[in-house]
Formats: sequence, structure tokens, C-alpha cells
Amino acid sequence: MIAPHVRFPYERITGIIGMSLGHTLSPLMHNTAFKEVNADFKYGVFQVRPDMVGHLFEAVRKFNIRGLNVTIPYKQTVMEYTDELSDEASTIGAVNTVVNENGRLIGYNTDADGVEVSLRRFAHRIAGTSVVVYGAGGAARAVISTLASSFAPSKIVIVNRTPGHATTIAETFRRKCSKTTFIVANTDESIVQETGAASTIVNTTSIGMHPDVNGTPLPDSVQIRADQIVFDIVYTPLETALLRQARNAGALTVSGLDMLLGQGAKAFELFTQLRFPMDAARAALLRELTSRQTT
Ligand code: ATR
Repeated sequence: MIAPHVRFPYERITGIIGMSLGHTLSPLMHNTAFKEVNADFKYGVFQVRPDMVGHLFEAVRKFNIRGLNVTIPYKQTVMEYTDELSDEASTIGAVNTVVNENGRLIGYNTDADGVEVSLRRFAHRIAGTSVVVYGAGGAARAVISTLASSFAPSKIVIVNRTPGHATTIAETFRRKCSKTTFIVANTDESIVQETGAASTIVNTTSIGMHPDVNGTPLPDSVQIRADQIVFDIVYTPLETALLRQARNAGALTVSGLDMLLGQGAKAFELFTQLRFPMDAARAALLRELTSRQTT
């Protein structure tokens, strides 16, 4: 029997583009959320090599695919395939969500929303203090931009394996945000001193992410204090070696789960114009992360 023709609803197809997506939880988060609000959307995985990124965006235009989230290492690359950038994406200098509005591709950065969701309960402790950010990639840009625009720290210190990348970010944000001092710490002594003096330590690198679960971005000589806030954007595992060290020191810890949910919620709302079902999505992610820890 010939199957009846089924029109594929390309305009309700969404997904994530990246290089290595074996562990991504975005499909689970979005597909759970679509189901919860009865939205007839689908979220897939587009694992592509750098030379295929342009072809994928051609397909997004030709088939009127609704939109894509963007992850490592394409958050800057995809900017050239968009027709317009939101204010946040252009301030941050990276795109993590592309939405197809009737053939116009708009680049957004919803990582900023993830940072807000993750840190807003600590806003009063961050204002007027120093924050140390490890890493200088796309996620670091979103963290630094959101901290400077919404949390009023007096100083942001950037620490990175390649100090030149940190210097570029410091120079960019010095021009954009005059109320915060931006510095790069690139000697062992200054890294230890600045990390010790900070109210808040943020890891935006992939150090500590599965399978490198024992890795931590902090030099061995840094002792975390009980009055510090430690935020790790890595969410696999949920408790990274850095967060375990922080918890053992009595510090306040923030896992990457809120960042994942916060950026996902905003992307979902941009894709569907519907409200993101936060509780259902959080429960599904926690179930999956817990089962990964025990297998
Ligand atoms: P994202 O867009 O998620 O931020 P990215 O742009 O690839 O990803 O940036 C990753 C950051 O983690 C970079 O700052 C990178 O350091 P470099 O600028 O030196 O490349 C940092 N990073 C990744 N793996 C690292 C490792 N094993 N040790 C130290 N830093 C690492």
C-alpha cells in the first residue's frame, strides 16, 4: 500500500547546530517542553563540520525551517549567515539562537537570560564587588556582558589559557561598559590573588565536562572560601569537580542547569511564541542527569 502523503511541517522544525553533540540535553529539554504545551514542533540535532554550516543555513532558508540553537564552536561563525542581530547578540558578539522570521534570519543570544536566571538571587552580593571569569569564548562573552549590564560588579577579571583571547574581550567591554573595570590575570600569582579576592568565581570553559570529570579550571593553590559564590556553566556532570570543591569549602554553588534552562526558555519562546514550561523541563533534565550519574 502506498503511504498517504504527509506534509512535513518544516516551519515547525527547530534544532541545535554544533560540532560534537553526543551529550547535548537541548533536544530532551525542548521536545519535553513542546509536548507539555501541546505545540506541534520538533527539535533535532544537526551535528555538522565547519564546511557544512553554510549549507545548513541555506537549507534553513529554502525549507523555511523555524530556527536553530547554536553551540560550540559556531556561536561566532553563524553571525555571517544572519540578516539581523538582536542588541544582545551584537553587544555580546556571539549568537546562540537563530530564528527564521519569514525568510529573514535573526540572530539572538539567549545565554544572557541563562546568566540572569542563574545569578539573580545573588545580585545584591555581586554589586560593587570583583568577579573572576575563567574562559574567553562565546559563553564568557555572554557572562561578562550580562554581569556588567545587570549586576554592577566593580571589577571583572578574566583568566584564560590563551591570554590574548581574554585581552580582546577586556578591550571590547572596556569600550562598552565604563562602570566596571576589566582586567586580565595571566600570571599564577595574579590569578591566585584575584580569585581569592573575588566575591564570585565563574567557569565558562569546558574544563570538568564529561568525560574530563576531574578537571577544574582553578590553580591548585586557590582555596575557595565559604563566603564566595561559585558558578559553573558545565552541566554534565551536574556537580563538577569545581562545584564539589566549592561545596566542601561551604561556598554557595550554582550549577549549569539554570543556565541551560534560562537560555532554553528564551529560545523556546522565540521559536514558538509560547510560554516555556519550566517545571516540566527542569524535572526531565534532572531525571536524565541523575540517571547518567548512576550509569
Ligand atoms: P563557548 O562558545 O562555549 O564559550 P569556546 O568559544 O570554544 O566555547 O570557548 C571555550 C573556552 O574554554 C575558551 O576560553 C578556551 O580557551 P582558549 O581561548 O585558550 O581556547 C577554554 N578552554 C577550553 N578547553 C580548555 C582547556 N582544556 N584548558 C583551558 N581552557 C580551555
